[in-house]
Amino acid sequence: MLTIDHISKTFHPGTVNEKRALDHVCLTLHDGDFATIVGSNGAGKSTLFGAIAGSFYPDEGFLELDGQDITFVREHNRSKYIGRLFQDPLMGTAPHMTIEENLAIAYLRASAHTSFISRISARDRAFFREQLALLGMGLEDRMKNPVGLLSGGQRQALTLLMATMVTPKILLLDEHTAALDPATAVKVLDLTKRIVAERHITCLMVTHNMNQALELGSRTLMMDAGRIVFDVSGEERRGMCVDDLLERFAASSGAAFNNDRILLSTETGE
Ligand SMILES: Nc1ncnc2c1ncn2[C@@H]1O[C@H](COP(=O)(O)OP(=O)(O)OP(=O)(O)O)[C@@H](O)[C@H]1O
Ligand SMILES: [Mg+2]
Repeated sequence: MLTIDHISKTFHPGTVNEKRALDHVCLTLHDGDFATIVGSNGAGKSTLFGAIAGSFYPDEGFLELDGQDITFVREHNRSKYIGRLFQDPLMGTAPHMTIEENLAIAYLRASAHTSFISRISARDRAFFREQLALLGMGLEDRMKNPVGLLSGGQRQALTLLMATMVTPKILLLDEHTAALDPATAVKVLDLTKRIVAERHITCLMVTHNMNQALELGSRTLMMDAGRIVFDVSGEERRGMCVDDLLERFAASSGAAFNNDRILLSTETGE
């Protein structure tokens, strides 16, 4: 269970660029919860992920994961049990290293008992091969290829595998299919759904696609100006459509929704 208790973060305090990106955010995420997050540009969605992953420490408030206070645990240590994917497929993998080496690093980082300098054993290699085959992209036959040769979709699928090979306590997906072409985006999203469901992974996913926000997972959060302004699940969520979501946003923020990518995807039905 993840508990976020009144965390705030102001960037560049005391300067003309001062920006309160998180404003007393509170959130409880139970094991197995899959919550989607929507919000205007600059609402604080990625900053919230940064706070959970430990990219910075909050100015106030605290974070607890499975009863352990992680507020000041370093990002590197948190990465052993918190998986994170970004919009940019270039983040998250080392391009000059092979698929096999990337998988080995991720595997060794997340499985506490193995030393980082261990060699890749035949057993590890067989395990990686088996995991890659599950992606259905033929990557199991390219394990010696540098990751830099892969397409964006293949890299995102690989990053997803790396983040989940050892089941994380929480998985953070920050518009991880937004930079992919539509067909590849569908493929990576299907993989995501399958892995998250099969392994009961607790997951937070930012999306600019309002339909997706209501269809995927079991709960939808809406952020505005550094706050969670709306949190819906269960029966109420099942009865909602995209227009309801936009209306709720206007009602709680006093403004119309302002996210170029959301408006575009709502119009085109992407
Ligand atoms: N490292 C940083 N330094 C300074 N300001 C930052 C930093 N990170 C984020 N911000 C600011 O904090 C606010 C929230 O940004 P954030 O990236 O969390 O928004 P977002 O909800 O993810 O938006 P988008 O939908 O555009 O991705 C923005 O005003 C942004 O400019
Ligand atoms: Mg963002």
